[in-house]
Amino acid sequence: MTRLRRHLQLSDGERSREVKVQQLLDCDGWPQLFEFSGDLWLEVGTGKDTHIIDRASRFDRDLHVGIEQCRKKFEMTLRKAEALSCGQNLKFVQADAFDAIDPLFADDSLAGAFILFPDPWPKARHARRRLLQSSFLTLIARKLRPGAPLEIRTDDPSYASQAQDSLAGISSLVSRTEAEPWLYQPLDLDVHVETLFEKRFRSKGLPIHHFYLQKTKDAAIA
Ligand SMILES: C[S@@+](CC[C@H](N)C(=O)[O-])C[C@H]1O[C@@H](n2cnc3c(N)ncnc32)[C@H](O)[C@@H]1O
Repeated sequence: MTRLRRHLQLSDGERSREVKVQQLLDCDGWPQLFEFSGDLWLEVGTGKDTHIIDRASRFDRDLHVGIEQCRKKFEMTLRKAEALSCGQNLKFVQADAFDAIDPLFADDSLAGAFILFPDPWPKARHARRRLLQSSFLTLIARKLRPGAPLEIRTDDPSYASQAQDSLAGISSLVSRTEAEPWLYQPLDLDVHVETLFEKRFRSKGLPIHHFYLQKTKDAAIA
């Protein structure tokens, strides 16, 4: 009931940015939903941050999709997108990315993807929820088109090491930073957009691990 009331409070514009998995399955794919075609970018775990809104505003010929599982944060981002007058090239899906990514995106379809400050879930009993694990990263790799970038950021050194170990086993994803598995500074300040968590972690003096990856150009489906 509370959930329904909150949903009803969204304006038409805010609601129009929400996509349900079934809606996509019922139509001819993202270009039909967006009503125009363009390169398709994904951000997983948008929280209530505006990184994807900023990217959508800057790269307005591309299509941007954010996935967030928490309804409250998801609705906050819909409101921010409208308040910031973001164009119609940005949609959001409220879902668990583990379940939603496969039906939402065809293999080799994404022009790029971001996973920014995913929860590290340090307790062993929560390990299956970690996004930076082999099965999830392999899934993302499969959805990227050959040559497409994947950017990951985390403040957590142990989670960064786990991600590095997982990535070592995924031959279709290679680092763009040569021998370094990650950088402690953004690769390109001109296109870098700090997230809410990034600002928080940086202000506490925590190290930010920036992974810049790319799907190999000749990757067979991972
Ligand atoms: C630590 S927050 C970071 C938010 C934002 N990216 C930032 O940097 O400010 C991680 C977000 O990922 C979302 N999340 C975690 N696991 C998810 C999953 N399986 N599917 C979708 N969202 C997920 C959480 O609900 C949370 O909002």
